[in-house]
Amino acid sequence: MHWTTDQSTPSVGRVVVTTRTRSPIRSNVGLKAVMAVTGIFLVLFLIAHMLGNLKVFAGDASFNHYAHWLREIGAPILPNVWFLWIMRVGLLVAVLGHIWAATVLALRARAARPVRYAHRKKVRGSYAARTMRWGGVIILLFVIYHILDLTTGTLNPVGDPSRPYANVVADFAPARWYVTLFYTLAIVALGFHLRHGVFSALRSLGQQTPRGEQRARAVALVFAVALCAGYLLVPFAVLTGLVS
Ligand code: HEM
Repeated sequence: MHWTTDQSTPSVGRVVVTTRTRSPIRSNVGLKAVMAVTGIFLVLFLIAHMLGNLKVFAGDASFNHYAHWLREIGAPILPNVWFLWIMRVGLLVAVLGHIWAATVLALRARAARPVRYAHRKKVRGSYAARTMRWGGVIILLFVIYHILDLTTGTLNPVGDPSRPYANVVADFAPARWYVTLFYTLAIVALGFHLRHGVFSALRSLGQQTPRGEQRARAVALVFAVALCAGYLLVPFAVLTGLVS
């Protein structure tokens, strides 16, 4: 909606309303749907990746075999590595879509506020929103580091993409405790991000009552803690010598 003042009749000052067509996806509801769909896709990836990582407890051969299998999914219909690349493109589109929708929504919310708050109200909503923003940035930086570490091997002491088990064990060796610390901080940030994201999604979908909200909060918390624990098991198992 676009409002202008018609000055052709000075004494009247008619207000003229013109409508600028905006694609439905760019409406607030459309952008929230983009956040939800991309978020669900990313959550499914996170669950699958976490379960796959736990294969490290089955030993060297089993973990490497699993990583190798990832490259063959879809064969013989899809040529080698095609599924992996389709997945990578899907993930990239989902991450970019998630960031784009979040940024546009945040900028709109800011523009809709007539004056900046002199002091921020300590309400849960604004605290969570800020956590989401900075949490998102930390997760993005982590994923860039993580790909250079365990996918390309550039920052890994072994750095051999054909030996993922050896890469993981070298990565979280006790002497490299700071890598485990960094992973831990990033995974905890991911946990907070997921807790709020899953809670918001469940609240929108579920019963809009205090009881429904309480249930959504509990489910989101349990999910985030379980996912974080699943991810953290691997570096701590290597750090403590359980996996070597
Ligand atoms: C301690 C926890 C984690 C471990 C041990 C781990 C392990 C790995 C390994 C071994 C690979 C390489 C797979 C391969 O090429 O065969 C990989 C790739 C990847 N991981 Fe993780 N990961 C962890 C946490 C995460 C988290 C928290 C995220 C997302 C926030 C993530 C996102 C990715 C992505 C996007 C790839 C690249 C997939 C590809 O394109 O090949 N990982 N991870």
